[in-house]
Amino acid sequence: MNNKITIAIDGFSSTGKSTVAKQLAKYLGYVYVDTGAMYRAVAYYAMGNGFITKDYFDKKGLIDKLSDINIAFKFNEGLGFAEVYLNSVNVEKKIRTLEVSEFVSTVAAVSEVRHKLVEQQQQMGKDKGVVMDGRDIGTVVFPDAELKLFMTASAETRAQRRYKELIDRGDAVVYDEVLKNVQERDYIDTHREDSPLVKADDAIEVDNSNMSLEEQFNVILDLVNKAIYK
Ligand code: DC
Repeated sequence: MNNKITIAIDGFSSTGKSTVAKQLAKYLGYVYVDTGAMYRAVAYYAMGNGFITKDYFDKKGLIDKLSDINIAFKFNEGLGFAEVYLNSVNVEKKIRTLEVSEFVSTVAAVSEVRHKLVEQQQQMGKDKGVVMDGRDIGTVVFPDAELKLFMTASAETRAQRRYKELIDRGDAVVYDEVLKNVQERDYIDTHREDSPLVKADDAIEVDNSNMSLEEQFNVILDLVNKAIYK
């Protein structure tokens, strides 16, 4: 019996979606797809090729080059998850900087970018057995997913987590700037015209502001089992 399901995890930035998605994929033997990494890779490309700066965005230039952008994931045994490659170059670390975070929501608001990435995401998840996290997985990419989760936590809790992550990896960042970035991305992600971040009607909301990682995993695993065996 093949009872593999599709698990869609959406929510605001830095709600711990990828942490729990990775845990679940490992536990269930599913494929994990970090769709935010795909938007980040396109933003990184746009920055590197001069299409976006602090005061300028050449949207048309980027759209014209979309067919040159190849995004792929390769599983890293040592890390236990797949890393993202942009045109055959591993950009996993380079796309996680605050600088990329500052441009990514603008790039992710471009319909042509979304169209390209959504198509690739649907392809990657077509055989089920996938945990995909992002902003529009339960609403646009897999509206028929058997389990949809919507993760939330206060902006301050999320900024604290993100700040610690950046400091731990050696980036010199200021907490207030991280908080500002979280709030700005929340705003752009929820207000863009094309597939704004909204909770799907049938998604289950998980507020993890006051949950440990272990508590969160157990709560979610319970929901997964219910969805698999219902
Ligand atoms: O999950 P993340 O913070 O790495 O995502 C980076 C940005 O990409 C986020 O600000 C919004 C965008 N994004 C999106 O628009 N749709 C997705 N499915 C995933 C991410």
